[in-house]
Amino acid sequence: MEILKPKQGFLILSSLLFVCNLSVWTIHVQGSIPARFDGFVYKDDLPHADTIMIEAFFDPVCPDSRDAWPPLKQVLEDYGPRLSLIVHPFALPFHDNAFVTSRALHIVNKLNASATYHLLELFFKHQEKFYNQQTHNMSRASVVDHIVRFVTKAVGDDLLSAVESGFNDRNSDFATRVSFKYGCSRGVIGTPYFIVNGFPLPNAGSAVDYKGWRSIIDPLINKQRQSGDEIPYFFL
Ligand SMILES: *[C@@H]1O[C@H](CO)[C@@H](O)[C@H](O)[C@H]1NC(C)=O
Ligand SMILES: *[C@@H]1O[C@H](CO)[C@@H](O)[C@H](O)[C@H]1NC(C)=O
Repeated sequence: MEILKPKQGFLILSSLLFVCNLSVWTIHVQGSIPARFDGFVYKDDLPHADTIMIEAFFDPVCPDSRDAWPPLKQVLEDYGPRLSLIVHPFALPFHDNAFVTSRALHIVNKLNASATYHLLELFFKHQEKFYNQQTHNMSRASVVDHIVRFVTKAVGDDLLSAVESGFNDRNSDFATRVSFKYGCSRGVIGTPYFIVNGFPLPNAGSAVDYKGWRSIIDPLINKQRQSGDEIPYFFL
């Protein structure tokens, strides 16, 4: 008979408690650090020293995420390289097709990264096709089939079989789980959820309008102008 060493016992216990205990869950996440930072970089604009970094957590089938996108997109156009955006898909458990549509984003991002935001916009535009009610009578397999065809419209017919096999590839499943876990690790409990320069915006779960974004960003740009070596506010 093999006796568990305390550490092994702890590991097994941790995996049993994983679903209900956040601190143990944190240990689990640390054990599986992904090779790349999660999410989709908008227009491939990576941040530089003065960039204001926005992270947005969107569920592709969430109406509030859909409504949050146009004003944010407008702000990104207007401020140009001052802003950088990473979208993390975050599949809310009460949306039946949130995980599978999030997975579709990961699949497409791998096939053609510049089509990812195009697909996100298509999901937002035709979101009602994938609501719980509308897919209530469909089998899991026919929902996936439906999504494969939908996605192919965004990336081109020649990628049909690549998209199809993407849904059989464990890596796309893993990537979608990583997105979910990353959101959990940042305390995301609803979408849309925004983090600006590493700090969460209040009012999680509601869209920020164009004026709202300006009132967040303008003061940050002014502060950057005023001083290069200000003391971070959390030390004051
Ligand atoms: C990738 O997607 C972009 C935007 O949808 C498209 O213009 C481009 O032709 C695609 N590239 C390939 C290699 O399919
Ligand atoms: C689901 O199937 C039932 C029984 O066949 C039908 O009455 C109902 O209208 C269907 N619902 C949808 C949303 O298609």
